[in-house]
Amino acid sequence: MTKQGESSEEKYRAAGYERVEPKATYAPWSDDVAFLRVNDVIKEHTLVDRYRCYELWQLVAQAMKTPGDLLEVGVWRGGTGAIIAAQAARRNRKRCVYLADTFTGVVKAGSRDRYYRGGEHANTSVEHVGRVLNTLELDNTRVLAGVFPDETAEQVAAEDGLCFCHIDVDVYEGAKDVTEWVLPRLNPGGIIVYDDYGFYGCEGVTEFVNGIMDKTGLVLVHNLNGHAVIVKAGNSTRD
Ligand SMILES: C[S@@+](CC[C@H](N)C(=O)[O-])C[C@H]1O[C@@H](n2cnc3c(N)ncnc32)[C@H](O)[C@@H]1O
Repeated sequence: MTKQGESSEEKYRAAGYERVEPKATYAPWSDDVAFLRVNDVIKEHTLVDRYRCYELWQLVAQAMKTPGDLLEVGVWRGGTGAIIAAQAARRNRKRCVYLADTFTGVVKAGSRDRYYRGGEHANTSVEHVGRVLNTLELDNTRVLAGVFPDETAEQVAAEDGLCFCHIDVDVYEGAKDVTEWVLPRLNPGGIIVYDDYGFYGCEGVTEFVNGIMDKTGLVLVHNLNGHAVIVKAGNSTRD
């Protein structure tokens, strides 16, 4: 919370944060026609900026080199889920993209989470997500309604394991539970993306990811757009 008279820059600095302004200029998101077509549909249905959306688009293409299905936990109105599904469909429509959300808002907020208390982002529905997916004619998805993994993980068949997971659940315990379910099912070369890693208010996710950074068999990249990206090492087993 900002104290009276305190700017957001002051608030960030007091918490060890600052606005990140990389100096790079290469901008493939501005003329990638396939991405722009999808982004045009989903941009009103996501909280995620186009830099992170484009990184998801690129990382799904990379992840499709590895066998397995795809998963997003934290779908809200379907924007990033549609990006993931659209890119997966371009490569192989047989791979299922599981889209998991409570559709009643954030759960498992706790003392490590500065902003979230539970119930945020409840302004969505399975039907809303279905309409976004239909607009893009995506038939490679399965929507899971309920707390993941507790209530819906048993619906994930993923017989060939997983190649990709986008975790956008905002809080420590949620990120931890999803990661612990995904890691044993993630094939070597598979990728996990944490949307919330670099953001004030989502410190619980940052703390969780920093805590697994030194785990053997995982390569972690902090992308300055705010993502943390984990690649499971090629010579590691599923667990
Ligand atoms: C920030 S929103 C996701 C934003 C979305 N990726 C987008 O494109 O804008 C976070 C979502 O995570 C969901 N969520 C949080 N914890 C969850 C859990 N353990 N299982 C299922 N959904 C969860 C919330 O219901 C909420 O819709």
